[in-house]
Amino acid sequence: MPKDIVCSGIRPTGNLHLGNYCGALKNFVKMQDEYDCYFFIADYHSLTTHPTPDNLYQNARQILIQYLAAGLDPERATIYFQSDLPETIELYLFFNMNAYLGELERVTSFKDKVRQNPNNVNAGLLTYPTLMAADILIHKATKVPVGKDQEQHLEMTRTFAQRFNNMYGAEVFPLPQAFNFGTDLVKIPALNGTGKMGKSEGEASTIFLTDEPSVIRKKIMKAKSDSGPTMMNQPKPEEIENLFALMRVVSSKDTVDYFDDLYNRCQIRYGDMKKQLAEDMVVFIEPLRQRILEIGSDDLALRRIIDLGKEKARVSAAATIHEVRHVIGYRN
Ligand code: TYM
Repeated sequence: MPKDIVCSGIRPTGNLHLGNYCGALKNFVKMQDEYDCYFFIADYHSLTTHPTPDNLYQNARQILIQYLAAGLDPERATIYFQSDLPETIELYLFFNMNAYLGELERVTSFKDKVRQNPNNVNAGLLTYPTLMAADILIHKATKVPVGKDQEQHLEMTRTFAQRFNNMYGAEVFPLPQAFNFGTDLVKIPALNGTGKMGKSEGEASTIFLTDEPSVIRKKIMKAKSDSGPTMMNQPKPEEIENLFALMRVVSSKDTVDYFDDLYNRCQIRYGDMKKQLAEDMVVFIEPLRQRILEIGSDDLALRRIIDLGKEKARVSAAATIHEVRHVIGYRN
């Protein structure tokens, strides 16, 4: 039986953080034995924010290093730069012909970006979901490991795939699903009390895989909390629930239960809880940080990995685009 096809990517906008790791990268690593995997660095997507050439290159290279440090294996999975796959851009063009302004304008991530950056509402931002659909469908992937924030993009990918199939009366594309090993997609909260961990909540609210222990401790000790519960067994306010959510990621169940019990009895001291969380976070992040430092120095090995990934990804992409062109009517 052929293996299910998996595809996902991360934008190179800086170092990877705990949200990227728990929502995506950790699952990439777990999936590489069981499935036929394509993992890329989304260095076309990052152009929406207009990086300088040096930034674009350095950030993309850094993400590759972090993929490898987390345990992705270029022999078992296909690891490549999005910009090494021009077939994706051709498919993006085809999908754009059948993507409508209204549906693109309704996408939550687009509306967020418009609000955050009203002076940079470019067409690439608007058509972000069609490029993402092209990334996934160029390999006919059915499983897409992503965090909760990507759910709507996956829904649009299915819309574009189905629309294409209907339009040409052919079953060219599967309908991919967001994937997580647990039952729900993951959302890692920011340290500032609201929202998800990530660049938009600011660096102080984000734990990066490259953060040194002292930086992690400082960030966690400054995380938002409150003056503590005044009544027994009450639901937790958002910022406190977020601290517990982070603890559930990096601490043992006993530790979480211990602080949960203190909370329910109104005896919790957030300073103690944060100290414990910071130590467990350091234990979680430090091996990743060390591997990132090791891998980063071998340029020749990185070059080989990039070439191998490109070669493997293009075989799959060329087959899809050949079929798509034929179905559309390019038979010259
Ligand atoms: P990006 O680069 O913003 O994030 C990469 C991955 O990390 C996940 N993630 C999180 N998960 C849980 N909690 C968080 N706080 C958190 N922050 C980020 C994201 O859900 C994502 O899985 N559009 C994508 C990149 C992309 C892509 C694709 C993904 C481009 N083409 C095709 C899958 C398939 C993005 O911007 O993710």
